[in-house]
Amino acid sequence: MRDIFKRTHMCGTLRSHDVDGQVVLNGWIQKRRNLGGLIFCDLRDKTGIVQVVFDDKIPAELFEKADSLRSEYVVGIQGVVKERQAKNPDLPTGDIEVFATDLIIYSQADTPPIYIKDHDKVDENLRLKYRYLDLRKNKMQNNLQFRHQVTKVAREYYDSQGFTEVETPMLINPTPEGARDYLVPSRVHPGEFYALPQSPQMFKQLLMVGGTDRYMQIVKCFRDEDLRADRQPEFTQIDLEMSFVDIDDVIEIQEGFMKKLFRDVMDTEIETPFPRLSYDEAMERYGSDKPDTRFGFELKKLNELVQNTEFPVFRNALDSNGDVRGICINGGGNLFSRKDIDKFTEAIRSYGAKGLVWIKKGVDEITSSVNKFFSKEELEELLAVFKAQEGDLVLIAADKKKVVFDSLGFLRRDIAGKMGLLDDNQFNFLWVVDFPLYEYDEETQRFYAMHHPFTSPKLEDIPLLDAEPEKVRAKAYDIVLNGVELGGGSIRIHDRTLQRKMFEVLGLTEEECQRKFGFLLEAFRYGTPPHGGLAYGLDRLVMLLTGENSIREVIAFPKNQSAQCMVSDAPSPAGEEQLEELGIKLRN
Ligand code: AMO
Ligand code: AMP
Repeated sequence: MRDIFKRTHMCGTLRSHDVDGQVVLNGWIQKRRNLGGLIFCDLRDKTGIVQVVFDDKIPAELFEKADSLRSEYVVGIQGVVKERQAKNPDLPTGDIEVFATDLIIYSQADTPPIYIKDHDKVDENLRLKYRYLDLRKNKMQNNLQFRHQVTKVAREYYDSQGFTEVETPMLINPTPEGARDYLVPSRVHPGEFYALPQSPQMFKQLLMVGGTDRYMQIVKCFRDEDLRADRQPEFTQIDLEMSFVDIDDVIEIQEGFMKKLFRDVMDTEIETPFPRLSYDEAMERYGSDKPDTRFGFELKKLNELVQNTEFPVFRNALDSNGDVRGICINGGGNLFSRKDIDKFTEAIRSYGAKGLVWIKKGVDEITSSVNKFFSKEELEELLAVFKAQEGDLVLIAADKKKVVFDSLGFLRRDIAGKMGLLDDNQFNFLWVVDFPLYEYDEETQRFYAMHHPFTSPKLEDIPLLDAEPEKVRAKAYDIVLNGVELGGGSIRIHDRTLQRKMFEVLGLTEEECQRKFGFLLEAFRYGTPPHGGLAYGLDRLVMLLTGENSIREVIAFPKNQSAQCMVSDAPSPAGEEQLEELGIKLRN
């Protein structure tokens, strides 16, 4: 009697060429059926499922043991591979089955609280609570395996390009990425706190000052922000920084990475260089700085055409320096009812939109929500801007520029999704470049760095820093794949005078700068190479390549929508003693 069977094969790998071979398998029982003289079991490991048969030729004792098997029992099986009579084309191992000659039950299992079945529609919080069961699904194991391949290729590629992987600290002072920090109280210094890094930004720049030349790290980052399908409070970056480079050098290295990644893990050749779009062009054409270019529906500006209109909605927008813009949904006229359009209008309320004008071009009539304000000729003119054909639907928003962009940018992708135009097998990469350096915030009436305060302005725009900072463009770039911001970065400022100027425009006092970034500014005094870099969101990259809709599907133990870890139940209250030790008193 042995404790454990030494495995010879993985379940999901057996094929016809293994027929007549002796195999030893270890795994979990997916299900068991007793058909009288025959017991069928599906045996699962991380590679897949194979059918195991116990027939009446085996000793009665063994047959009885097999009959006691239940779902999720962990077993070892010895057997012989046979060609299957009734083949199962849905299963990669469907041509064969294993006739068992011996069996060990390693452990029994209670009835699991969730089915271990790919794509089972179970409440996500329940899946996350029992993540170790959820992870047994082949789909989840495949995702983990795929993610492993991506990080492996990343390390290989950047190594081949002279990058050194360096770890940076997790207990640091706040970094300037713009989200809220996760704070960690210090016991040794009561009343003082570490922040968890929102990114290794300042440390990777110090590595450049330190002569590392090319740095990479696959690193956890922490940001306390509102969660969405592509945002987690802790997520992973492939983080990079390079010395003696300008924009084109950084971009070229990244395109090389994507080419290799697609070749190695997707078995696909992609075309480089990727198209580059200026921020302004991306906004004008797609209403978004992360445009999805797998389909059309591009935005058109109508301000001039309707400049003399008396339609109050357009009039108000134009008079208050706003915009009137629209999109044409080709073929949308027959697909979407008024009710659907009401739903679109409802959906864009969250961007501040107050309504949505629609125009449908029919066989020989035009229907619209503004028939009483516009003549047939005027409607024809509007439709002509979009080259609208019979059956098309034009949607127009009028408001502040940002509201119009956000609303139409959202609608074009949302509607394309509803029309089945988002092909998971098409990969449209592009770079968005020439971002504005600053963003003006109406509420606080001041400028903020759109990327972070170490991002270099374009040299030719430096003269604008004083009088028209809003017009200054940054040496910043984002890499976008199918409407998702995969990564972003910039060339940094390495000149102290320029850095001081940047802080001045941001309204930061000398004292504030010293407190926040003093160590970096000091480092820059002792010889700084020109440098720049980029960070990818690894979770997003893997999500897109696996065709998943949420990054939670490609993270082993993600947080739920309320930032809780359902497995370990974090966060949880700290004990009195711990708080005492940290010198922390709770308010209630
Ligand atoms: P940035 O803030 O653009 O740049 O972050 C880089 C990339 O990280 C991903 N990302 C996230 N993924 C999941 N959940 C989140 N909460 C989250 N936040 C960001 C995105 C994003 O493009 N230090 C700079 C990089 C640089 O300048 O080199 C930085 O962190 O895919
Ligand atoms: P009403 O005059 O209220 O019947 O509105 C006529 C049309 O204008 C309706 O289709 C409204 O949805 C639309 N509308 C109202 N406000 C806006 C806006 N800010 N932008 C675009 N359309 C709007």
